[in-house]
Amino acid sequence: MQPIQLSFLVFLLLCTSNLRAQQGYSGNEELDCDNQGRTVPSPSYLYTCNGQNLSCRAFMIFKSQANYSSVSSISRLLSTDSLELARINDVSVSDSFPTNKEVIIPVNCSCPGQYYQANTSYVIDDVDTYYSLATGVYQGLSSCNALVGENPCDANDLFGGLDLLVPLRCACPSGNQTADGIKYLLTYPVSEGDSFSELSDRFNASYDDTASANGFSKQGEPTIYPSTTILIPLPQEPVSSQTIIHHPIEISPFQPLHPSIINNNIKRSHSKLRFGIGIAVASLLVLCALVAVALWCDKK
Ligand SMILES: *[C@@H]1O[C@H](CO)[C@@H](O)[C@H](O)[C@H]1NC(C)=O
Ligand SMILES: *[C@@H]1O[C@H](CO)[C@@H](O)[C@H](O)[C@H]1NC(C)=O
Ligand SMILES: *[C@@H]1O[C@H](CO)[C@@H](O)[C@H](O)[C@H]1NC(C)=O
Ligand SMILES: *[C@@H]1O[C@H](CO)[C@@H](O)[C@H](O)[C@H]1NC(C)=O
Ligand SMILES: *[C@@H]1O[C@H](CO)[C@@H](O)[C@H](O)[C@H]1NC(C)=O
Ligand SMILES: *[C@@H]1O[C@H](CO)[C@@H](O)[C@H](O)[C@H]1NC(C)=O
Repeated sequence: MQPIQLSFLVFLLLCTSNLRAQQGYSGNEELDCDNQGRTVPSPSYLYTCNGQNLSCRAFMIFKSQANYSSVSSISRLLSTDSLELARINDVSVSDSFPTNKEVIIPVNCSCPGQYYQANTSYVIDDVDTYYSLATGVYQGLSSCNALVGENPCDANDLFGGLDLLVPLRCACPSGNQTADGIKYLLTYPVSEGDSFSELSDRFNASYDDTASANGFSKQGEPTIYPSTTILIPLPQEPVSSQTIIHHPIEISPFQPLHPSIINNNIKRSHSKLRFGIGIAVASLLVLCALVAVALWCDKK
């Protein structure tokens, strides 16, 4: 093989490594509502049906809110069984959670078409839009595109009292994940200040498994956005001791090492890293080209 062909192959491999991902991360796209994903699969809609089974038990994290803080109200909002929810969160069915506490939601995830989903329904207020429902009430656990795709009502024609079908993001493990001992996938809605490696640690998942579950490379901390979701692969059911209460991030003059500032520094050092890798790949390509030219000249 000619060096130039080899370098092209290396380049191609670098570019296509995401194809082996279990699911793709939607990134900021999830926040758009541009009618993507109805025909061509897109992670900004829901997760694709590419698992070993077409249905499975799955889990989600929901952060308790003013209007959704009791076991019964959260169970109703997400159409899950309240006894199961109470058991897995180690509380009783009549209990309530403090605001912003992560609550584990067990769901039955299934695949009616090309996407995995757990269905629930929601009766809208006057002020709700598909977007505010997906990212506000449902914290990113549904998506604007999927709400538009699965409800007959046009986004401009929503009215108070309308009963909507809300498809929630879930997924079943792929054959490779099952072979690695992964039994469940947890859909985690990202909050301000969350870091990918801290999350894999907290749920006792290996960093590499979590990265590959979301289509990220195993090197470097990926950038994740609030109101989008990532999948955390679990070898057993999640337990309540793994959940935390999120405290709103406040700017205080007495806290010079603010989490978002730390995150920014991490992001910056990663963009430096990417820049460095870019330079290395470019140099490699130039070097290969030079070698090829040298060999070609030699032959003449
Ligand atoms: C499963 O793993 C094998 C071996 O590592 C790899 O070749 C294959 O592409 C993987 N399949 C999927 C769907 O990730
Ligand atoms: C898939 O289904 C089989 C048979 O019902 C079951 O034994 C297996 O655990 C399931 N795999 C996953 C990943 O749920
Ligand atoms: C809670 O519900 C009440 C009545 O439905 C509504 O007026 C209020 O805006 C809701 N609060 C939040 C934070 O969503
Ligand atoms: C899932 O389905 C099973 C069997 O239909 C049911 O017993 C269980 O309560 C369901 N779980 C949830 C979380 O809805
Ligand atoms: C969820 O809703 C979709 C779309 O209406 C439907 O095709 C599917 O059967 C529903 N899934 C379940 C488990 O009811
Ligand atoms: C975390 O995983 C390790 C092995 O992978 C296991 O020994 C340990 O018990 C797990 N911890 C929790 C809290 O599940």
